[in-house]
Amino acid sequence: MKPVSHSQALATSMEAALAAGTLMGRHRISSRKKVNEATQHDIKLELDVRCQKLIEKTLRSRFPQVAVLGEEGISGDPNAEYRWVIDPIDGTVNFAYGIPHACVSIALDRRIDVTSKFRGAVPPDAAYQTVAGVVYDPFCQEMWTAVRGQAARLNGRRIHVSQRSELKEALVSLGFAKKRETLNEMLPQFNHLVHRVRKIRIMGAAALAMVYVACGRLDAYLEYGVRWWDVSAGGLILEMAGGDFTHDQISPDHTHRILANNGPIGKRMRRYY
Ligand code: IPD
Ligand code: CA
Repeated sequence: MKPVSHSQALATSMEAALAAGTLMGRHRISSRKKVNEATQHDIKLELDVRCQKLIEKTLRSRFPQVAVLGEEGISGDPNAEYRWVIDPIDGTVNFAYGIPHACVSIALDRRIDVTSKFRGAVPPDAAYQTVAGVVYDPFCQEMWTAVRGQAARLNGRRIHVSQRSELKEALVSLGFAKKRETLNEMLPQFNHLVHRVRKIRIMGAAALAMVYVACGRLDAYLEYGVRWWDVSAGGLILEMAGGDFTHDQISPDHTHRILANNGPIGKRMRRYY
């Protein structure tokens, strides 16, 4: 495959994120939205699918050869050298309930050789490294971007993680995913941390939590059971803003446990991972 320019990939994914965010924004936050599927702890909207189609159309027009791993569908070779990783709407439940805290997340992953790092089988997502990423919040009109090896930016300005190193001063966000098992896994972490940090925040959009850590609004974000499309772009943006992104795939359907943090607070947060 022809090498993919990471900066061109970023420019195209910014365009795609803007288009999908504009579509989200056109649906008044207070309006009723068509629900395709609802389970106890999740909702899937018709708009999730429409946003992914719009994003794919833009990405395909410039990079027809690149595979897609998206929350609303997968296309192309799942082991390809490059793949787009798309969450068309992260924070769908917020969006569906009229809370303007949701975003678009698009990353470009590149296959890397990690065989020396693993004794047995390599978890499929560990064979990839994110090389470009964008997270766009259409309600605040904030766009976070990064290309591996270059500074992370928010609306074009360089960003940096916070310097807080003490839990007692920290703002820590937790994610509660969609299954009984993943919810139960997070409860002891909540119970322990809530007494030790300044505040816990449970905001409902993992991609936004990652970039909030990247620009110093939060000090750490922890979740068990998040999907790769929720955190791939935000993880790169965080690393390029000086933070730490620890993640392990816990099931083949691209489910991970993750700890995102500013660096200085990492040693105190790691026991919760
Ligand atoms: C969800 C949100 C939520 C997180 C879940 C995600 P979705 O993504 O990011 O905050 O806790 O794990 O699946 O379904 O809104 O795209
Ligand atoms: Ca989603």
